[in-house]
Amino acid sequence: MMGAGFDIITIFPEIFHAYLGESILNRAIQKGLLDVNVRNPRDFTTDKHRTVDDYPYGGGSGMVMKIEPIHRAVNTVKSDGIERLTVLLTPQGVTYNQEKAEALSAYLSAEKRRLLLICGRYEGIDERVRDSLVDEEISIGDYVLTGGELAALVIIDSIARLIPGVLGDEESIKEESFTWGILDYPHYTRPPEFKGMKVPDVLLSGNHGEVSKWRRREAIRRTLKRRPDLLKKAKLTEEDNAIINELCSNEK
Ligand code: ADE
Repeated sequence: MMGAGFDIITIFPEIFHAYLGESILNRAIQKGLLDVNVRNPRDFTTDKHRTVDDYPYGGGSGMVMKIEPIHRAVNTVKSDGIERLTVLLTPQGVTYNQEKAEALSAYLSAEKRRLLLICGRYEGIDERVRDSLVDEEISIGDYVLTGGELAALVIIDSIARLIPGVLGDEESIKEESFTWGILDYPHYTRPPEFKGMKVPDVLLSGNHGEVSKWRRREAIRRTLKRRPDLLKKAKLTEEDNAIINELCSNEK
């Protein structure tokens, strides 16, 4: 497959079917560019109640996800012998960003490599899952979700849109926010005026050179104002630096 392949371990498979059944990702799956295989640890339990969690050793509130059903699910996924990176979604992981999305996308672009994402639930997951099954731990931000499912979808979504053919318009990936390392420029469509609010003249001028310059300038202006931290890491040209100097001196 020339796209990207994912295996998901979750006790809520429907969350994935719902999101992946719509829009761009659904089309990517239909086109064979994206493949997502979902496995439920509950299907790998051996007791009558199909138990996936239990009380914590040492006491305390909340339940802990048991290792055996997860271990069996992971082993079943891995039985095809394909090379995989196994990732646990947890607020304790390394914070996810566009750079990580690009790195994982590059990993997956090699023939026959997949990403195995383990979604935690309840208050925690038996530490031995980390110790024996996981290569990396990823967090999607400094806040706590009720489970790793949304985080796994964030990762799938951000990688899927980097696969050639998924968005249709390859240029749009390159041009927009974060691929430059700075924020996006403002966008407009018809009408040219709405309740007194006008589209900037330059965008109606048909002068592509001027349009490009305006967009770059507005993207830099916005980044300077909202996320000056991004400018330190961004790849900037001489011209960009001149714009920054000018915008900064106008402020004073
Ligand atoms: N599970 C719960 N919160 C999370 C987060 N912020 N990132 C990844 N997985 C999570």
